[in-house]
Amino acid sequence: MRKGIFITAEGGEGAGKTTALKKIYDELIKKGHQVVMTREPGGIKISEEIRSVILNEEHTEMDGRTEALLYAAARRQHLMEKIVPALQEGKIVLCDRFIDSSLAYQGFARGIGIENILMINEFAIDEYWPNLTLYFRVDPEIGLARIAKDKGREVNRLDQENETFHKKVLEGYDQLTKLYKDRIRIVDANDDFESVYSRALLLIEQHLETIDNR
Ligand code: TMP
Repeated sequence: MRKGIFITAEGGEGAGKTTALKKIYDELIKKGHQVVMTREPGGIKISEEIRSVILNEEHTEMDGRTEALLYAAARRQHLMEKIVPALQEGKIVLCDRFIDSSLAYQGFARGIGIENILMINEFAIDEYWPNLTLYFRVDPEIGLARIAKDKGREVNRLDQENETFHKKVLEGYDQLTKLYKDRIRIVDANDDFESVYSRALLLIEQHLETIDNR
């Protein structure tokens, strides 16, 4: 039985979700919540190791389905080792990327098919769908210009994809918002950071309130 709240952050490159999530984490802690912040692919040793295999810039020969399976494997281990125990302890889990990244990137942008990616990911996550997903929606031109400016950022294999790929990622996410209307909330991430952060925090607070009022 899960008692906690599982919140994920999604979006294309340069949407600012990671920075926003860190600030949200600090704010929720300040308000007295018990919060765990984590990321995908990664979050724990095994999954961080899988991350380095997937995102290694030299692995240009990696097949799309191999990539999808590796993301799903990293997700399963991360879920069982870190997310589920935190939820069982009643904590709020903030996870930077989760299943929707695979649906948008591998399912849609890579062209493997959302249904195929859903199948392997349903096997991986079982009943552990997020309660709330914030989709930081940024135009690829804006997002890619932001990451080009951020010199300290890790460059990975998926960053090497062209703008067409990143436009497809956006289209994929847009489809997911229609498919999962109740779970996914859109945050317009083209704006300045403070506005993006405030909107995201508000959506989380509203979600927490609806749970308190149940
Ligand atoms: P990030 O940590 O900078 O978000 O980088 C992770 C990269 O991996 C990013 O380009 C999105 C991609 N990704 C997928 O393609 N599928 C997935 O399931 C996940 C979690 C990430």
